[in-house]
Amino acid sequence: MPEIRNITIKNWQDIIDLKVREDQKTFVASNLYSIAQSKFGDEYEGHWDLYPFAIYDDDKPVGFLMYALNFEHPTHQAFIQRLMVDENFQGKGYGKFGMNWMLDLFRADERIKMVGISYEPHNEVARKLYAGLGFVETGRIVDEETEAMLKLH
Ligand SMILES: CC(C)(COP(=O)(O)OP(=O)(O)OC[C@H]1O[C@@H](n2cnc3c(N)ncnc32)[C@H](O)[C@@H]1OP(=O)(O)O)[C@@H](O)C(=O)NCCC(=O)NCCS
Repeated sequence: MPEIRNITIKNWQDIIDLKVREDQKTFVASNLYSIAQSKFGDEYEGHWDLYPFAIYDDDKPVGFLMYALNFEHPTHQAFIQRLMVDENFQGKGYGKFGMNWMLDLFRADERIKMVGISYEPHNEVARKLYAGLGFVETGRIVDEETEAMLKLH
């Protein structure tokens, strides 16, 4: 059964070893970059705190996710900043599991009215995954990525 675990002193090196396929490298930053970034947060129309986690299955690390929160932001208060599944474990439901785990967390928090996400315009797997969960494209391009939103509250 898949599960989400914290990134700790014990597992962070296993998590930075997870890699996407060569042709997917432009779709997502490395886990090493994301874990470094999570220490400082993100500055996009205000300050966002970053929360990185690992996706596991039976004690085996298979993927990584990171979300951002800013309860002061006028349009969306949560943003799915990163999602990746290692090239050897893709297509087995782990990405969708990670997405649903984040969305359940957000749904439990009344302060989160809207969730944002963005992806490279030709990342069809990501587009379909997010559209299937209810994300609607806004028509905006942010940092050369297609932006989509999901209304929760
Ligand atoms: C996008 C990504 C996180 C999805 O995770 P995953 O574990 O491979 O995907 P899942 O097995 O959970 O499948 C999610 C959906 O995508 C579809 N899908 C998965 N791999 C696919 C593929 N190679 N081709 C077509 N569809 C695919 C599945 O059919 C599923 O749809 P369904 O629920 O309607 O059946 C993963 O492929 C990945 O890490 N890609 C590279 C990095 C990336 O693009 N990250 C997202 C940046 S925005």
